[in-house]
Amino acid sequence: MALGNIHLTPDLVQAVRDAVDIVDVASEYTRLKKAGRRYRGLCPLHKEKTPSFSVDPDQGLYYCFGCGQGGDAIKLHMLLTGDDFPAAIEALARRYGIPLPKPPRGARQERDRSAELEHALDEAEGFFVEQLRRFPKPQTYLENRRISSELIEAFRIGYAPPGWRELIGALKGRVGVVELERAGLIARSERRPEEPYDRFRDRLMFPIRNAAGRLVGFGGRTLADDRAKYINTSETPRFSKGQLLYGLHLAKRPLRESRRALLVEGFFDVLGAVAAGIEGAVASMGTALTREQSRLLARFADEVVVGYDGDAAGGAAYLRALPLLLAEGLGVMRPEVGEGQDPDSVRLDRGEAALVEIVDTAADAVTREIERLTPAGAGHDPRHQARAAAALVDLLKPIPDAVLRYGYAKQATDRLGLPVGLLLDRLKLRKEVAPPRDSTPQEASPVRSLEEKTLQLLLAGGESLPPAEELPPSEAFLNPALRNIYSAFLDLYRGGQGSSPAPREVLARLPSDGEAVDRIARLLLEESVGTDPRELEGSVRRLLRRWQQQKARELAVRINEAQRAGDQERLQRLLEEKAALSRLLHVRPPTE
Ligand code: UTP
Ligand code: MN
Repeated sequence: MALGNIHLTPDLVQAVRDAVDIVDVASEYTRLKKAGRRYRGLCPLHKEKTPSFSVDPDQGLYYCFGCGQGGDAIKLHMLLTGDDFPAAIEALARRYGIPLPKPPRGARQERDRSAELEHALDEAEGFFVEQLRRFPKPQTYLENRRISSELIEAFRIGYAPPGWRELIGALKGRVGVVELERAGLIARSERRPEEPYDRFRDRLMFPIRNAAGRLVGFGGRTLADDRAKYINTSETPRFSKGQLLYGLHLAKRPLRESRRALLVEGFFDVLGAVAAGIEGAVASMGTALTREQSRLLARFADEVVVGYDGDAAGGAAYLRALPLLLAEGLGVMRPEVGEGQDPDSVRLDRGEAALVEIVDTAADAVTREIERLTPAGAGHDPRHQARAAAALVDLLKPIPDAVLRYGYAKQATDRLGLPVGLLLDRLKLRKEVAPPRDSTPQEASPVRSLEEKTLQLLLAGGESLPPAEELPPSEAFLNPALRNIYSAFLDLYRGGQGSSPAPREVLARLPSDGEAVDRIARLLLEESVGTDPRELEGSVRRLLRRWQQQKARELAVRINEAQRAGDQERLQRLLEEKAALSRLLHVRPPTE
Protein backbone atom coordinates (compact mmCIF):
# COMPACT_ATOMS: atom_id res chain seq x y z
CA MET A 1 0.00 0.00 0.00
CA ALA A 2 1.36 3.39 -0.92
CA LEU A 3 1.96 5.81 1.89
CA GLY A 4 2.18 8.81 -0.36
CA ASN A 5 4.73 10.54 1.79
CA ILE A 6 8.05 9.34 0.50
CA HIS A 7 10.71 11.85 -0.35
CA LEU A 8 10.47 12.57 -4.07
CA THR A 9 13.91 12.99 -5.58
CA PRO A 10 14.42 13.78 -9.26
CA ASP A 11 16.40 10.53 -9.49
CA LEU A 12 13.52 8.50 -8.17
CA VAL A 13 11.05 10.15 -10.53
CA GLN A 14 13.43 9.50 -13.40
CA ALA A 15 13.96 5.89 -12.39
CA VAL A 16 10.20 5.35 -12.31
CA ARG A 17 9.81 7.04 -15.67
CA ASP A 18 12.44 4.75 -17.13
CA ALA A 19 11.05 1.58 -15.61
CA VAL A 20 7.33 2.03 -16.02
CA ASP A 21 5.71 0.28 -18.94
CA ILE A 22 2.65 2.06 -20.24
CA VAL A 23 1.23 -1.05 -21.89
CA ASP A 24 1.51 -2.75 -18.54
CA VAL A 25 -0.25 0.06 -16.68
CA ALA A 26 -3.04 0.38 -19.24
CA SER A 27 -3.52 -3.38 -19.56
CA GLU A 28 -4.65 -3.59 -15.98
CA TYR A 29 -7.76 -1.66 -16.91
CA THR A 30 -8.42 -2.46 -20.53
CA ARG A 31 -7.57 -5.16 -22.98
CA LEU A 32 -5.08 -3.91 -25.53
CA LYS A 33 -4.52 -5.33 -28.99
CA LYS A 34 -1.41 -4.77 -30.99
CA ALA A 35 -1.89 -2.61 -34.06
CA GLY A 36 1.37 -1.97 -35.84
CA ARG A 37 3.79 -0.22 -33.56
CA ARG A 38 0.99 0.75 -31.24
CA TYR A 39 -1.72 -0.85 -29.13
CA ARG A 40 -5.43 -0.18 -29.25
CA GLY A 41 -8.26 -0.84 -26.88
CA LEU A 42 -11.37 0.48 -25.21
CA CYS A 43 -10.58 3.67 -23.34
CA PRO A 44 -10.37 3.02 -19.59
CA LEU A 45 -11.05 6.70 -18.93
CA HIS A 46 -14.44 6.93 -20.50
CA LYS A 47 -17.23 4.61 -21.54
CA GLU A 48 -17.17 3.56 -25.17
CA LYS A 49 -18.08 0.69 -27.44
CA THR A 50 -15.46 0.98 -30.15
CA PRO A 51 -11.81 1.22 -29.23
CA SER A 52 -10.31 4.69 -29.57
CA PHE A 53 -7.63 4.37 -26.93
CA SER A 54 -4.16 4.23 -28.40
CA VAL A 55 -0.91 3.41 -26.63
CA ASP A 56 2.54 3.96 -28.03
CA PRO A 57 5.04 1.86 -26.10
CA ASP A 58 8.06 3.50 -27.73
CA GLN A 59 7.03 6.99 -26.78
CA GLY A 60 5.53 5.80 -23.50
CA LEU A 61 2.34 7.70 -24.23
CA TYR A 62 -1.37 7.12 -24.52
CA TYR A 63 -4.07 9.09 -26.23
CA CYS A 64 -7.81 8.60 -26.59
CA PHE A 65 -9.45 9.86 -29.76
CA GLY A 66 -12.81 9.59 -28.06
CA CYS A 67 -12.33 11.69 -24.95
CA GLY A 68 -9.24 13.58 -26.04
CA GLN A 69 -7.21 12.69 -22.98
CA GLY A 70 -3.60 11.76 -23.27
CA GLY A 71 -0.39 11.55 -21.34
CA ASP A 72 2.27 9.27 -20.00
CA ALA A 73 2.11 6.17 -17.82
CA ILE A 74 2.36 8.09 -14.57
CA LYS A 75 -0.55 10.27 -15.47
CA LEU A 76 -2.58 7.28 -16.58
CA HIS A 77 -1.85 5.53 -13.32
CA MET A 78 -2.96 8.66 -11.42
CA LEU A 79 -6.22 8.89 -13.32
CA LEU A 80 -7.00 5.22 -12.97
CA THR A 81 -6.16 4.83 -9.29
CA GLY A 82 -6.85 8.26 -7.88
CA ASP A 83 -3.28 8.43 -6.54
CA ASP A 84 -1.71 11.86 -6.42
CA PHE A 85 1.74 12.35 -7.96
CA PRO A 86 3.89 11.30 -4.98
CA ALA A 87 1.65 8.32 -4.27
CA ALA A 88 1.83 7.32 -7.93
CA ILE A 89 5.62 7.47 -7.92
CA GLU A 90 5.74 5.40 -4.78
CA ALA A 91 3.28 2.81 -6.04
CA LEU A 92 5.05 2.46 -9.38
CA ALA A 93 8.47 2.35 -7.71
CA ARG A 94 7.31 -0.53 -5.56
CA ARG A 95 5.77 -2.27 -8.50
CA TYR A 96 8.94 -2.10 -10.56
CA GLY A 97 11.24 -2.82 -7.66
CA ILE A 98 12.90 0.58 -7.57
CA PRO A 99 14.43 1.21 -4.13
CA LEU A 100 12.81 4.12 -2.32
CA PRO A 101 15.24 6.69 -0.95
CA LYS A 102 15.33 7.35 2.77
CA PRO A 103 13.50 10.60 3.46
CA PRO A 104 15.42 13.48 5.08
CA ARG A 105 15.13 13.86 8.85
CA GLY A 106 12.15 16.16 9.10
CA ALA A 107 10.20 14.30 6.49
CA ARG A 108 11.19 11.01 8.06
CA GLN A 109 9.66 12.06 11.35
CA GLU A 110 6.52 13.02 9.56
CA ARG A 111 6.58 9.76 7.71
CA ASP A 112 7.04 7.81 10.91
CA ARG A 113 4.12 9.69 12.38
CA SER A 114 2.01 8.98 9.40
CA ALA A 115 2.97 5.33 9.48
CA GLU A 116 2.13 5.24 13.17
CA LEU A 117 -1.22 6.80 12.52
CA GLU A 118 -1.94 4.32 9.78
CA HIS A 119 -0.89 1.53 12.08
CA ALA A 120 -3.19 2.78 14.85
CA LEU A 121 -6.14 3.03 12.48
CA ASP A 122 -5.47 -0.42 11.00
CA GLU A 123 -5.21 -2.02 14.42
CA ALA A 124 -8.41 -0.32 15.53
CA GLU A 125 -10.20 -1.51 12.43
CA GLY A 126 -9.10 -5.07 13.14
CA PHE A 127 -10.36 -4.76 16.68
CA PHE A 128 -13.78 -3.40 15.63
CA VAL A 129 -14.23 -6.11 13.00
CA GLU A 130 -13.42 -8.75 15.59
CA GLN A 131 -15.85 -7.27 18.10
CA LEU A 132 -18.68 -7.38 15.60
CA ARG A 133 -18.23 -11.14 15.43
CA ARG A 134 -18.45 -11.39 19.22
CA PHE A 135 -21.53 -9.30 19.95
CA PRO A 136 -25.04 -10.43 18.92
CA LYS A 137 -26.53 -6.93 19.30
CA PRO A 138 -24.82 -5.25 16.33
CA GLN A 139 -25.23 -8.42 14.28
CA THR A 140 -28.97 -8.40 14.86
CA TYR A 141 -29.07 -4.72 14.08
CA LEU A 142 -27.36 -5.27 10.73
CA GLU A 143 -29.61 -8.23 9.97
CA ASN A 144 -32.68 -6.10 10.61
CA ARG A 145 -31.32 -3.50 8.23
CA ARG A 146 -30.71 -6.29 5.75
CA ILE A 147 -27.01 -5.80 5.37
CA SER A 148 -25.45 -9.04 4.14
CA SER A 149 -22.25 -10.50 5.49
CA GLU A 150 -20.62 -9.92 2.09
CA LEU A 151 -21.32 -6.22 2.42
CA ILE A 152 -20.11 -6.17 6.01
CA GLU A 153 -16.89 -7.69 4.82
CA ALA A 154 -16.46 -5.53 1.74
CA PHE A 155 -16.90 -2.35 3.75
CA ARG A 156 -15.06 -3.77 6.78
CA ILE A 157 -17.87 -2.77 9.11
CA GLY A 158 -17.13 -3.31 12.79
CA TYR A 159 -18.41 -2.67 16.25
CA ALA A 160 -17.06 -0.62 19.13
CA PRO A 161 -18.28 -2.37 22.26
CA PRO A 162 -19.76 -0.57 25.25
CA GLY A 163 -17.29 0.14 28.04
CA TRP A 164 -14.79 2.91 28.40
CA ARG A 165 -11.41 1.38 27.81
CA GLU A 166 -12.05 -1.58 25.52
CA LEU A 167 -10.04 -0.36 22.55
CA ILE A 168 -7.30 1.12 24.71
CA GLY A 169 -7.04 -2.13 26.62
CA ALA A 170 -7.16 -4.43 23.65
CA LEU A 171 -4.41 -2.62 21.77
CA LYS A 172 -2.17 -2.21 24.80
CA GLY A 173 1.42 -3.06 23.96
CA ARG A 174 0.78 -2.66 20.23
CA VAL A 175 -0.58 0.87 19.94
CA GLY A 176 -0.05 3.54 22.58
CA VAL A 177 -2.69 5.92 23.88
CA VAL A 178 -0.83 8.84 22.26
CA GLU A 179 -1.15 7.24 18.83
CA LEU A 180 -4.79 6.32 19.39
CA GLU A 181 -5.46 9.87 20.42
CA ARG A 182 -3.75 11.21 17.31
CA ALA A 183 -5.90 8.89 15.27
CA GLY A 184 -8.97 10.49 16.84
CA LEU A 185 -10.09 7.37 18.67
CA ILE A 186 -9.71 8.67 22.22
CA ALA A 187 -11.56 11.25 24.28
CA ARG A 188 -10.82 12.92 27.59
CA SER A 189 -13.26 14.56 29.93
CA GLU A 190 -12.77 18.08 31.17
CA ARG A 191 -12.93 17.02 34.77
CA ARG A 192 -10.51 14.11 34.55
CA PRO A 193 -8.29 14.84 31.55
CA GLU A 194 -5.67 12.41 32.85
CA GLU A 195 -7.99 9.50 32.15
CA PRO A 196 -8.39 8.92 28.47
CA TYR A 197 -11.29 6.75 27.34
CA ASP A 198 -12.65 5.22 24.12
CA ARG A 199 -14.38 7.79 21.99
CA PHE A 200 -16.56 5.22 20.24
CA ARG A 201 -18.72 3.07 22.50
CA ASP A 202 -21.59 0.83 21.54
CA ARG A 203 -21.38 1.99 17.97
CA LEU A 204 -21.37 0.37 14.58
CA MET A 205 -18.07 1.35 13.00
CA PHE A 206 -17.64 2.43 9.39
CA PRO A 207 -14.00 2.65 8.31
CA ILE A 208 -13.57 5.65 6.00
CA ARG A 209 -11.01 5.36 3.24
CA ASN A 210 -9.67 7.83 0.72
CA ALA A 211 -9.88 7.28 -3.03
CA ALA A 212 -6.66 5.30 -3.02
CA GLY A 213 -8.12 2.96 -0.41
CA ARG A 214 -6.09 4.14 2.56
CA LEU A 215 -7.85 4.09 5.91
CA VAL A 216 -8.14 7.65 7.21
CA GLY A 217 -10.80 7.57 9.91
CA PHE A 218 -14.07 6.16 11.18
CA GLY A 219 -17.71 7.05 11.44
CA GLY A 220 -19.69 5.40 14.20
CA ARG A 221 -23.46 4.95 14.44
CA THR A 222 -24.87 4.57 17.90
CA LEU A 223 -26.87 1.48 18.76
CA ALA A 224 -28.30 3.22 21.80
CA ASP A 225 -30.85 6.00 21.35
CA ASP A 226 -29.59 8.56 23.73
CA ARG A 227 -26.57 10.06 22.02
CA ALA A 228 -25.57 11.70 18.75
CA LYS A 229 -26.61 9.30 15.99
CA TYR A 230 -23.25 9.51 14.22
CA ILE A 231 -19.86 10.63 15.40
CA ASN A 232 -16.60 10.61 13.47
CA THR A 233 -12.93 10.56 14.30
CA SER A 234 -11.78 14.12 14.87
CA GLU A 235 -10.71 16.13 11.84
CA THR A 236 -7.01 15.83 11.07
CA PRO A 237 -5.06 16.73 7.93
CA ARG A 238 -5.50 13.11 7.01
CA PHE A 239 -9.15 12.91 7.92
CA SER A 240 -11.05 15.82 6.50
CA LYS A 241 -14.63 14.87 5.71
CA GLY A 242 -14.97 17.60 3.12
CA GLN A 243 -12.29 16.01 0.98
CA LEU A 244 -13.52 12.46 1.16
CA LEU A 245 -16.35 10.52 -0.35
CA TYR A 246 -17.35 7.46 1.58
CA GLY A 247 -17.29 4.33 -0.57
CA LEU A 248 -15.24 5.81 -3.40
CA HIS A 249 -12.43 3.27 -3.11
CA LEU A 250 -14.95 0.53 -3.94
CA ALA A 251 -17.06 2.57 -6.36
CA LYS A 252 -14.00 3.48 -8.40
CA ARG A 253 -13.87 0.27 -10.37
CA PRO A 254 -17.53 0.09 -11.44
CA LEU A 255 -17.47 3.81 -12.17
CA ARG A 256 -14.72 3.29 -14.67
CA GLU A 257 -17.27 1.39 -16.73
CA SER A 258 -20.48 3.25 -16.04
CA ARG A 259 -19.14 6.76 -15.37
CA ARG A 260 -22.45 7.30 -13.56
CA ALA A 261 -22.30 7.77 -9.81
CA LEU A 262 -24.96 7.80 -7.14
CA LEU A 263 -24.23 10.47 -4.56
CA VAL A 264 -26.00 10.00 -1.23
CA GLU A 265 -25.87 11.47 2.25
CA GLY A 266 -25.20 8.55 4.53
CA PHE A 267 -23.19 5.41 5.13
CA PHE A 268 -26.25 3.20 5.05
CA ASP A 269 -27.41 4.73 1.79
CA VAL A 270 -24.16 3.55 0.20
CA LEU A 271 -24.62 0.07 1.63
CA GLY A 272 -28.25 0.00 0.55
CA ALA A 273 -27.40 1.07 -2.97
CA VAL A 274 -24.65 -1.52 -3.31
CA ALA A 275 -27.01 -4.15 -1.90
CA ALA A 276 -29.44 -3.21 -4.67
CA GLY A 277 -26.70 -3.65 -7.25
CA ILE A 278 -25.97 0.04 -7.71
CA GLU A 279 -22.23 -0.12 -7.29
CA GLY A 280 -21.01 3.38 -8.08
CA ALA A 281 -22.41 4.82 -4.85
CA VAL A 282 -20.61 7.30 -2.62
CA ALA A 283 -21.68 9.43 0.34
CA SER A 284 -20.78 13.00 1.19
CA MET A 285 -21.40 11.96 4.81
CA GLY A 286 -24.04 14.44 5.78
CA THR A 287 -22.00 17.61 5.36
CA ALA A 288 -22.78 20.11 2.64
CA LEU A 289 -21.03 18.91 -0.49
CA THR A 290 -17.72 20.71 -0.91
CA ARG A 291 -15.93 21.80 -4.06
CA GLU A 292 -13.21 19.25 -3.32
CA GLN A 293 -15.76 16.47 -3.15
CA SER A 294 -17.34 17.51 -6.45
CA ARG A 295 -13.94 17.65 -8.06
CA LEU A 296 -13.06 14.25 -6.70
CA LEU A 297 -16.28 12.80 -8.01
CA ALA A 298 -15.77 14.34 -11.44
CA ARG A 299 -12.53 12.41 -11.74
CA PHE A 300 -14.44 9.17 -11.68
CA ALA A 301 -17.83 10.02 -13.16
CA ASP A 302 -19.45 12.00 -15.95
CA GLU A 303 -22.94 11.84 -14.50
CA VAL A 304 -24.15 11.90 -10.96
CA VAL A 305 -27.53 10.99 -9.56
CA VAL A 306 -27.98 13.00 -6.37
CA GLY A 307 -29.89 10.71 -4.04
CA TYR A 308 -29.98 13.04 -1.06
CA ASP A 309 -32.68 12.52 1.55
CA GLY A 310 -36.24 13.47 0.66
CA ASP A 311 -36.60 15.91 3.53
CA ALA A 312 -36.15 19.68 3.72
CA ALA A 313 -32.49 19.38 4.72
CA GLY A 314 -31.79 16.96 1.89
CA GLY A 315 -33.56 19.24 -0.59
CA ALA A 316 -31.55 22.25 0.55
CA ALA A 317 -28.30 20.29 0.45
CA TYR A 318 -29.14 19.18 -3.08
CA LEU A 319 -29.72 22.75 -4.26
CA ARG A 320 -26.39 23.81 -2.77
CA ALA A 321 -24.59 20.88 -4.37
CA LEU A 322 -26.07 21.45 -7.84
CA PRO A 323 -23.90 24.40 -8.99
CA LEU A 324 -20.76 22.73 -7.65
CA LEU A 325 -21.44 19.55 -9.59
CA LEU A 326 -22.43 21.42 -12.75
CA ALA A 327 -19.26 23.49 -12.52
CA GLU A 328 -17.22 20.30 -12.78
CA GLY A 329 -18.95 19.50 -16.03
CA LEU A 330 -20.99 16.70 -14.50
CA GLY A 331 -24.43 15.80 -15.76
CA VAL A 332 -26.71 15.91 -12.71
CA MET A 333 -29.85 13.88 -12.09
CA ARG A 334 -32.31 14.13 -9.23
CA PRO A 335 -34.40 11.04 -8.43
CA GLU A 336 -37.76 11.03 -6.67
CA VAL A 337 -36.60 9.81 -3.28
CA GLY A 338 -39.96 10.40 -1.65
CA GLU A 339 -40.94 12.61 1.25
CA GLY A 340 -39.07 11.71 4.41
CA GLN A 341 -37.21 8.85 2.74
CA ASP A 342 -33.60 8.19 1.91
CA PRO A 343 -32.22 5.63 -0.55
CA ASP A 344 -31.73 3.03 2.14
CA SER A 345 -35.24 3.43 3.52
CA VAL A 346 -36.61 3.14 -0.02
CA ARG A 347 -34.85 -0.19 -0.32
CA LEU A 348 -36.11 -1.39 3.06
CA ASP A 349 -39.70 -0.19 2.58
CA ARG A 350 -40.22 -0.82 -1.09
CA GLY A 351 -37.48 -3.20 -2.11
CA GLU A 352 -34.27 -3.15 -4.09
CA ALA A 353 -36.03 -2.96 -7.43
CA ALA A 354 -37.81 0.22 -6.34
CA LEU A 355 -34.49 1.85 -5.48
CA VAL A 356 -32.99 0.84 -8.81
CA GLU A 357 -36.08 2.17 -10.54
CA ILE A 358 -35.95 5.64 -9.00
CA VAL A 359 -32.23 5.92 -9.69
CA ASP A 360 -32.61 4.78 -13.29
CA THR A 361 -35.49 7.14 -13.99
CA ALA A 362 -33.97 10.16 -12.26
CA ALA A 363 -34.77 13.34 -14.17
CA ASP A 364 -32.15 15.73 -15.46
CA ALA A 365 -31.66 18.22 -12.64
CA VAL A 366 -31.24 21.31 -14.79
CA THR A 367 -34.32 20.55 -16.88
CA ARG A 368 -36.23 19.97 -13.68
CA GLU A 369 -35.10 23.31 -12.28
CA ILE A 370 -35.97 25.04 -15.54
CA GLU A 371 -39.45 23.61 -15.36
CA ARG A 372 -39.81 24.73 -11.78
CA LEU A 373 -38.65 28.26 -12.62
CA THR A 374 -40.87 28.60 -15.67
CA PRO A 375 -44.33 27.37 -14.74
CA ALA A 376 -47.09 27.51 -17.31
CA GLY A 377 -48.33 31.06 -17.64
CA ALA A 378 -45.01 32.63 -16.65
CA GLY A 379 -44.53 33.63 -20.28
CA HIS A 380 -47.47 36.02 -20.08
CA ASP A 381 -46.24 37.96 -17.10
CA PRO A 382 -43.28 40.27 -17.81
CA ARG A 383 -42.37 40.57 -14.15
CA HIS A 384 -42.33 36.82 -13.80
CA GLN A 385 -40.30 36.55 -17.00
CA ALA A 386 -37.69 38.91 -15.59
CA ARG A 387 -37.50 37.09 -12.28
CA ALA A 388 -37.25 33.72 -13.98
CA ALA A 389 -34.56 34.98 -16.34
CA ALA A 390 -32.40 36.12 -13.41
CA ALA A 391 -32.81 32.78 -11.67
CA LEU A 392 -32.03 30.95 -14.89
CA VAL A 393 -28.80 32.87 -15.34
CA ASP A 394 -27.76 31.76 -11.86
CA LEU A 395 -28.71 28.19 -12.66
CA LEU A 396 -26.88 27.97 -15.97
CA LYS A 397 -23.79 30.07 -15.39
CA PRO A 398 -21.76 27.36 -13.64
CA ILE A 399 -22.05 25.04 -16.65
CA PRO A 400 -18.66 25.17 -18.38
CA ASP A 401 -19.77 23.79 -21.74
CA ALA A 402 -21.14 26.64 -23.86
CA VAL A 403 -23.13 24.33 -26.11
CA LEU A 404 -24.83 22.71 -23.17
CA ARG A 405 -25.51 26.10 -21.65
CA TYR A 406 -27.06 27.15 -24.92
CA GLY A 407 -29.26 24.05 -25.08
CA TYR A 408 -30.66 24.67 -21.63
CA ALA A 409 -31.07 28.39 -22.24
CA LYS A 410 -33.06 27.58 -25.36
CA GLN A 411 -35.24 25.16 -23.45
CA ALA A 412 -35.92 27.78 -20.80
CA THR A 413 -36.56 30.76 -23.04
CA ASP A 414 -38.90 28.72 -25.24
CA ARG A 415 -41.01 28.12 -22.16
CA LEU A 416 -40.85 31.78 -21.22
CA GLY A 417 -41.61 33.01 -24.73
CA LEU A 418 -38.37 35.00 -24.90
CA PRO A 419 -35.60 35.02 -27.52
CA VAL A 420 -32.70 32.87 -26.34
CA GLY A 421 -30.23 35.68 -27.06
CA LEU A 422 -31.56 37.58 -24.09
CA LEU A 423 -30.34 34.89 -21.73
CA LEU A 424 -27.17 34.11 -23.62
CA ASP A 425 -26.04 37.72 -23.46
CA ARG A 426 -26.28 37.65 -19.72
CA LEU A 427 -24.59 34.29 -19.51
CA LYS A 428 -21.69 35.47 -21.60
CA LEU A 429 -21.19 38.66 -19.66
CA ARG A 430 -20.40 36.69 -16.56
CA LYS A 431 -17.00 35.26 -16.08
CA GLU A 432 -16.89 31.50 -16.32
CA VAL A 433 -17.05 30.30 -12.74
CA ALA A 434 -15.38 27.01 -13.36
CA PRO A 435 -11.94 26.95 -14.85
CA PRO A 436 -11.90 24.22 -17.46
CA ARG A 437 -10.85 20.91 -15.97
CA ASP A 438 -7.51 19.42 -16.95
CA SER A 439 -9.30 16.50 -18.44
CA THR A 440 -11.78 18.50 -20.45
CA PRO A 441 -11.57 16.96 -23.88
CA GLN A 442 -10.03 19.42 -26.25
CA GLU A 443 -11.83 19.82 -29.50
CA ALA A 444 -9.84 17.76 -31.95
CA SER A 445 -9.06 20.45 -34.43
CA PRO A 446 -8.14 19.14 -37.86
CA VAL A 447 -6.35 22.36 -38.57
CA ARG A 448 -3.37 22.54 -36.30
CA SER A 449 -2.04 25.88 -35.33
CA LEU A 450 1.32 26.72 -36.79
CA GLU A 451 2.88 26.31 -33.37
CA GLU A 452 1.34 22.90 -32.85
CA LYS A 453 2.30 21.71 -36.29
CA THR A 454 5.89 22.81 -35.90
CA LEU A 455 6.21 21.17 -32.53
CA GLN A 456 4.59 18.02 -33.82
CA LEU A 457 7.09 17.78 -36.66
CA LEU A 458 10.01 18.58 -34.41
CA LEU A 459 9.02 15.93 -31.89
CA ALA A 460 8.50 13.37 -34.60
CA GLY A 461 12.08 14.33 -35.33
CA GLY A 462 13.98 11.95 -37.47
CA GLU A 463 17.31 12.65 -39.00
CA SER A 464 16.47 15.82 -40.77
CA LEU A 465 16.14 18.55 -38.17
CA PRO A 466 17.61 21.92 -39.07
CA PRO A 467 20.59 22.86 -36.89
CA ALA A 468 19.71 24.40 -33.53
CA GLU A 469 20.90 27.87 -34.60
CA GLU A 470 18.28 27.94 -37.29
CA LEU A 471 15.39 27.16 -34.98
CA PRO A 472 13.30 30.01 -33.61
CA PRO A 473 13.81 31.08 -29.98
CA SER A 474 11.19 29.89 -27.52
CA GLU A 475 9.49 33.32 -27.44
CA ALA A 476 8.35 32.56 -30.95
CA PHE A 477 5.77 30.27 -29.36
CA LEU A 478 2.95 32.33 -27.96
CA ASN A 479 0.96 29.48 -26.42
CA PRO A 480 2.48 28.99 -22.95
CA ALA A 481 2.02 25.21 -22.88
CA LEU A 482 3.56 24.77 -26.30
CA ARG A 483 6.33 27.18 -25.41
CA ASN A 484 7.24 25.10 -22.35
CA ILE A 485 7.49 21.97 -24.42
CA TYR A 486 9.46 23.67 -27.14
CA SER A 487 11.84 25.25 -24.70
CA ALA A 488 12.57 21.85 -23.11
CA PHE A 489 13.04 20.42 -26.58
CA LEU A 490 15.38 23.22 -27.63
CA ASP A 491 17.50 22.86 -24.48
CA LEU A 492 17.99 19.19 -25.12
CA TYR A 493 18.64 19.67 -28.79
CA ARG A 494 21.26 22.30 -28.13
CA GLY A 495 22.88 20.14 -25.46
CA GLY A 496 22.90 17.01 -27.59
CA GLN A 497 25.20 16.13 -30.44
CA GLY A 498 22.88 17.35 -33.14
CA SER A 499 20.57 14.40 -32.66
CA SER A 500 16.91 14.98 -32.15
CA PRO A 501 15.79 14.48 -28.52
CA ALA A 502 13.22 11.72 -28.00
CA PRO A 503 9.79 12.81 -26.79
CA ARG A 504 10.49 10.75 -23.67
CA GLU A 505 13.43 12.97 -22.79
CA VAL A 506 11.43 16.09 -23.42
CA LEU A 507 8.65 14.74 -21.24
CA ALA A 508 11.04 13.99 -18.43
CA ARG A 509 11.77 17.70 -18.18
CA LEU A 510 8.13 18.61 -17.76
CA PRO A 511 5.78 17.99 -14.86
CA SER A 512 3.93 14.72 -15.22
CA ASP A 513 0.61 16.05 -14.09
CA GLY A 514 0.69 19.21 -16.16
CA GLU A 515 -0.84 20.09 -19.47
CA ALA A 516 2.37 19.48 -21.40
CA VAL A 517 2.11 15.72 -21.22
CA ASP A 518 -1.38 15.82 -22.60
CA ARG A 519 -0.25 18.01 -25.43
CA ILE A 520 2.70 15.89 -26.40
CA ALA A 521 0.62 12.75 -26.34
CA ARG A 522 -1.98 14.37 -28.52
CA LEU A 523 0.56 15.75 -30.96
CA LEU A 524 2.29 12.44 -31.38
CA LEU A 525 -0.53 9.96 -31.30
CA GLU A 526 -3.47 11.76 -32.76
CA GLU A 527 -2.55 11.34 -36.37
CA SER A 528 0.31 9.74 -38.15
CA VAL A 529 2.87 12.45 -38.21
CA GLY A 530 4.87 12.71 -41.38
CA THR A 531 8.57 13.39 -41.23
CA ASP A 532 8.86 15.23 -44.50
CA PRO A 533 11.88 17.48 -43.98
CA ARG A 534 10.46 20.09 -46.35
CA GLU A 535 7.27 20.36 -44.36
CA LEU A 536 9.27 20.87 -41.20
CA GLU A 537 11.50 23.42 -42.84
CA GLY A 538 8.49 25.35 -44.08
CA SER A 539 6.82 25.37 -40.67
CA VAL A 540 9.96 26.45 -38.90
CA ARG A 541 10.48 29.21 -41.40
CA ARG A 542 6.94 30.51 -41.09
CA LEU A 543 7.15 30.51 -37.35
CA LEU A 544 10.46 32.28 -37.42
CA ARG A 545 9.13 34.84 -39.82
CA ARG A 546 6.06 35.45 -37.74
CA TRP A 547 8.26 36.05 -34.75
CA GLN A 548 10.55 38.39 -36.67
CA GLN A 549 7.63 40.38 -37.96
CA GLN A 550 6.25 40.72 -34.51
CA LYS A 551 9.67 41.84 -33.27
CA ALA A 552 9.77 44.36 -36.10
CA ARG A 553 6.42 45.78 -35.05
CA GLU A 554 7.56 46.04 -31.45
CA LEU A 555 10.76 47.74 -32.59
CA ALA A 556 8.81 50.24 -34.65
CA VAL A 557 6.79 51.21 -31.61
CA ARG A 558 9.90 51.64 -29.50
CA ILE A 559 11.67 53.64 -32.21
CA ASN A 560 8.69 55.91 -32.36
CA GLU A 561 8.82 56.39 -28.60
CA ALA A 562 12.53 57.13 -28.63
CA GLN A 563 12.03 59.68 -31.39
CA ARG A 564 9.34 61.46 -29.46
CA ALA A 565 11.39 61.42 -26.30
CA GLY A 566 14.35 62.78 -28.26
CA ASP A 567 16.58 60.03 -26.89
CA GLN A 568 19.25 59.91 -29.59
CA GLU A 569 21.35 57.23 -27.99
CA ARG A 570 18.48 54.82 -27.61
CA LEU A 571 17.22 55.65 -31.07
CA GLN A 572 20.58 54.76 -32.53
CA ARG A 573 20.63 51.40 -30.75
CA LEU A 574 17.10 50.58 -31.87
CA LEU A 575 17.82 51.50 -35.47
CA GLU A 576 20.78 49.13 -35.46
CA GLU A 577 18.59 46.40 -34.07
CA LYS A 578 16.12 47.11 -36.81
CA ALA A 579 18.76 46.87 -39.48
CA ALA A 580 19.94 43.55 -38.12
CA LEU A 581 16.43 42.25 -38.09
CA SER A 582 15.68 43.28 -41.65
CA ARG A 583 18.84 41.52 -42.75
CA LEU A 584 17.51 38.39 -41.06
CA LEU A 585 14.13 38.82 -42.68
CA HIS A 586 15.80 39.30 -45.98
CA VAL A 587 18.05 36.29 -45.67
CA ARG A 588 15.10 34.09 -44.82
CA PRO A 589 12.31 34.95 -47.20
CA PRO A 590 9.12 32.98 -46.81
CA THR A 591 8.93 30.09 -49.22
CA GLU A 592 5.27 30.36 -50.10
P1 UTP B 1 -28.80 10.77 8.36
O1 UTP B 1 -29.26 11.33 9.65
O2 UTP B 1 -29.66 10.87 7.18
O3 UTP B 1 -28.34 9.32 8.64
O4 UTP B 1 -27.38 11.40 8.08
P2 UTP B 1 -28.75 7.94 7.96
O5 UTP B 1 -27.57 7.43 7.25
O6 UTP B 1 -30.03 8.04 7.26
O7 UTP B 1 -28.87 7.16 9.30
P3 UTP B 1 -29.63 5.88 9.62
O8 UTP B 1 -30.09 5.34 8.33
O9 UTP B 1 -30.70 6.30 10.54
O10 UTP B 1 -28.59 5.07 10.30
C1 UTP B 1 -26.69 11.10 6.89
C2 UTP B 1 -25.22 11.04 7.13
O11 UTP B 1 -24.76 12.22 7.74
C3 UTP B 1 -23.69 11.97 8.60
C4 UTP B 1 -23.45 10.48 8.53
O12 UTP B 1 -22.45 10.24 7.57
C5 UTP B 1 -24.79 9.96 8.07
O13 UTP B 1 -24.68 8.70 7.44
N1 UTP B 1 -24.04 12.39 9.97
C6 UTP B 1 -25.33 12.40 10.36
C7 UTP B 1 -23.05 12.76 10.85
O14 UTP B 1 -21.85 12.75 10.50
N2 UTP B 1 -23.40 13.12 12.13
C8 UTP B 1 -24.69 13.10 12.55
O15 UTP B 1 -24.96 13.41 13.74
C9 UTP B 1 -25.68 12.75 11.63
MN1 MN C 1 -30.60 9.51 5.86
